[in-house]
Amino acid sequence: MIRSLYIHIPFCPKICPYCSFYKEASDRNKTQAFLDAVLMEAKAIPFQPETIFFGGGTPTALSSKQLDDLIRGLYACLDLSQVTEWTVEMNPATVSLEKADLLLSLGVNRISMGIQSWDSTLLTTLGRVHTAAQAERSYGILREAGFSNINLDLIFGIPGQTPQQWQDSLKKTIALNPDHISAYCLTYEEDTEYFLRLGKGIYRQDTETDAALFETTMSLLEESGYLQYEISNYAPPGKECRHNLVYWMGEDYIGLGPSAFSTVGDSRWSNVANTAEYIHRITHHQDTVDFRETLTSTTRQAERLAFGIRTLHGVPFHWLKNHQKQVEEFLKLGLIETGQETVRLTRSGRLLADSVAAAFL
Ligand SMILES: C[S@@+](CC[C@H](N)C(=O)[O-])C[C@H]1O[C@@H](n2cnc3c(N)ncnc32)[C@H](O)[C@@H]1O
Ligand code: SF4
Repeated sequence: MIRSLYIHIPFCPKICPYCSFYKEASDRNKTQAFLDAVLMEAKAIPFQPETIFFGGGTPTALSSKQLDDLIRGLYACLDLSQVTEWTVEMNPATVSLEKADLLLSLGVNRISMGIQSWDSTLLTTLGRVHTAAQAERSYGILREAGFSNINLDLIFGIPGQTPQQWQDSLKKTIALNPDHISAYCLTYEEDTEYFLRLGKGIYRQDTETDAALFETTMSLLEESGYLQYEISNYAPPGKECRHNLVYWMGEDYIGLGPSAFSTVGDSRWSNVANTAEYIHRITHHQDTVDFRETLTSTTRQAERLAFGIRTLHGVPFHWLKNHQKQVEEFLKLGLIETGQETVRLTRSGRLLADSVAAAFL
């Protein structure tokens, strides 16, 4: 059963040099045509979503009027009566009380805001469009509007970041008491400015330092009541992101908008990652899909295993019946532990989560 709907809004106020999500600088000439196209795509959806996630890009790069049109348009073409969690991603530079009030009044009940760091030097390194003070004001505005489910995104392993700077950013975040914290280790993604700088030797990746920062993250957040329910995601019990859990549990979802992926049964497909082309195809009644694959049940099961092992609850023991050798080895190395019927990562296993997950793929 499909329960989750993702909508990709590909516009940003400014492009960050480390980011590989499909996005482009906000373009007024394209926005209206994009909104019309997404709504046309939505009309064809045959299900009642329980979770909705507006991601990007930066959905709030849209104006209040455009968000209003988009959301009202969705209500007009879809049955949204079953929605329990509706997240909108924000960049702190795109928050206003007017927008926050509007989103809340239209049924959005969760915000995910990209803070990345509270350090002004590091915000400059990251090429962020906002200051730390602006991010704090934006958080205050969201609370003032009445949002009671707010996630803040942070990044560690930023070039030049000291352990002290990371601790300070974590402590500052904890002091604000958000309902959820995503703490990502910086990845040098191909086709980004950061990747080029890494190749030229301007930046250097240091896995040992990253591991130490990750240890600090786990300790500080856990002692403050944030459970690490997925490798990069922390929340008090009950505040986990249901939409993301759908991905991690290997359940079906539909994605709309340029570059968005969908997975339903044994089919996975993604829309063309080009806004102009996406709009063109929709308006000319052409297929927006650029990539399509049929997943064997073995592939889907392997994916469920690789994502599931990264979660707090781990995976049922019997899922690993074809991986006995790796299980024994990881148990010996202390990277996994077994519960009554489940297997999950230990704390040291979490430091090597990618390698453990890869061994099961
Ligand atoms: C779509 S953005 C969030 C909303 C908004 N666009 C913003 O940046 O404020 C998703 C998140 O992915 C994370 N992210 C993006 N690129 C990353 C990278 N190369 N390494 C680690 N995290 C990254 C950032 O924490 C970012 O907030
Ligand atoms: S991190 Fe967010 S604001 Fe920056 S380019 Fe990526 S999607 Fe846009």
